[in-house]
Amino acid sequence: MKFGILNCILLNMLALVTCESGYFWHITDLHYDFTYHGRQLSCNPTKKQNNPGKFGDFWCDSPWLLIESSVHAMANIKPNADFILWTGDTILHSKDEDLSYEINAVILQNTTDVLRDKLPNVPVYATYGNHDYWPSNQFPPRNNLLYNETWIRWKDWINDPSQEDNFRKGGYYSIKTSHGLRIVALNTILYYTSNKAILNEVDPADQLQWLNTTLYNAKMNKDKVLVTAHIPFGVYTPSNVIWMYEKYHTPLVDILRGYTDIIVGMHFGHNHADGFKFLHSSDGHHSAPVFIAPSVTPAENHNPGIRLVEYDRTTGQHKDLIQYYLDLNKANKDGVANWTLEYTFSDIYDTSALTGDTINAVVENMKKSTNGQTLNKYWKHYAVSLPNDLQEPCYDECRRSIVCGFKHHTMKTYEKCKSNMISDSTSVFALWNFCIAVLALILHACV
Ligand SMILES: *[C@@H]1O[C@H](CO)[C@@H](O)[C@H](O)[C@H]1NC(C)=O
Ligand SMILES: *[C@@H]1O[C@H](CO)[C@@H](O)[C@H](O)[C@H]1NC(C)=O
Ligand SMILES: *[C@@H]1O[C@H](CO)[C@@H](O)[C@H](O)[C@H]1NC(C)=O
Ligand SMILES: *[C@@H]1O[C@H](CO)[C@@H](O)[C@H](O)[C@H]1NC(C)=O
Ligand SMILES: [Zn+2]
Ligand SMILES: [Zn+2]
Repeated sequence: MKFGILNCILLNMLALVTCESGYFWHITDLHYDFTYHGRQLSCNPTKKQNNPGKFGDFWCDSPWLLIESSVHAMANIKPNADFILWTGDTILHSKDEDLSYEINAVILQNTTDVLRDKLPNVPVYATYGNHDYWPSNQFPPRNNLLYNETWIRWKDWINDPSQEDNFRKGGYYSIKTSHGLRIVALNTILYYTSNKAILNEVDPADQLQWLNTTLYNAKMNKDKVLVTAHIPFGVYTPSNVIWMYEKYHTPLVDILRGYTDIIVGMHFGHNHADGFKFLHSSDGHHSAPVFIAPSVTPAENHNPGIRLVEYDRTTGQHKDLIQYYLDLNKANKDGVANWTLEYTFSDIYDTSALTGDTINAVVENMKKSTNGQTLNKYWKHYAVSLPNDLQEPCYDECRRSIVCGFKHHTMKTYEKCKSNMISDSTSVFALWNFCIAVLALILHACV
């Protein structure tokens, strides 16, 4: 009886600790238009409503009420999340002449304040979006006033003085959460094709070299890693765009591929649409899941979304995405914002964990399902359950683009995948025609 109740209790405690779920939020692309009730600098004048609703418009950036309401919703639904990822683009879409360094700074400060006020005990791991700089997109490859001032704004959340130098140099950092997950927060605007400030650089702000070393050290320490940044690598589908200069995109993807065995998840914004991908290691043995969260701003043509992620605190493995949204038309009609569950990943794709392999399986399933039901679901959530009559349909070319973009992250392999899919379907089509022709011959002979 020595191996008795005590061991059993210990075993149970171990089991409890090892399967303990934690949660984190991901918000992105808030794009606050402080002129929403006046000049409406961010609005598409031909498409917006004549009388834009108080919570926002599908063709304008967010009024403050929408920003506040999204943060309220996070605080109501899960106030004690382990942390928050905030992947930038807090400034409205507007001409540079209508903005200034000072305007952007106030918006970043006010948004930092509202997160800190409403979720006071939750650290926020924030990254820059391309619109957060003035002039827009032009993030410099070395020390700059914005990096310095933002360090002051965010240093209590980052809570690691050793990250000050690289933050002041290029706005990137890495820390360990209280549960031991390593966060690697990148400034991918340094690679953005609209950034003219980094053109002659080999490795802007030395971020690639730093990433390589940071991931190497993480592996040596047996850390699990979560990568977060505003602009995602890979192809933005169905628009066929890679957002980064190839000379930075290629090494970035190569470095990440080398560590897909320790990366438990990568979380990005910028697309405004909801999506996912996976990244294979170069030997094909491991893959890591990639998630793109939808924006809080409804522009252009999405319902606002906020995302909760369930993960295993011990292994870092992601378990589920719990996507909340605001039905914007209803909120404007009712005069109150009722943020509700849009979907859980496990529900619509029938998964029990979110690894590179499970995403791969979802994608294979999507290819097989001939009536395209799974892809229809993907497309519905892509625009955050926008009413059907407002969303563009997604047919052949659009479908091929989405399916190939899940896995292929260079233009070459992506285009090849797409053309193979065409020849697959044409060969089926040719076979079918041949078969019909033979049938016609037989029938003709019979008569
Ligand atoms: C930022 O917050 C201050 C204090 O609440 C407020 O006076 C100011 O109008 C806000 N700025 C913007 C651009 O909304
Ligand atoms: C930013 O901070 C660093 C370190 O404190 C300082 O050396 C540098 O001059 C500052 N740069 C700007 C543009 O303020
Ligand atoms: C990353 O570091 C490895 C050595 O650990 C080196 O072989 C490789 O070239 C580096 N990659 C980049 C892109 O710096
Ligand atoms: C909010 O939406 C949910 C789900 O649609 C509904 O059950 C609930 O009654 C709504 N709450 C309010 C206050 O409208
Ligand atoms: Zn954006
Ligand atoms: Zn962006």
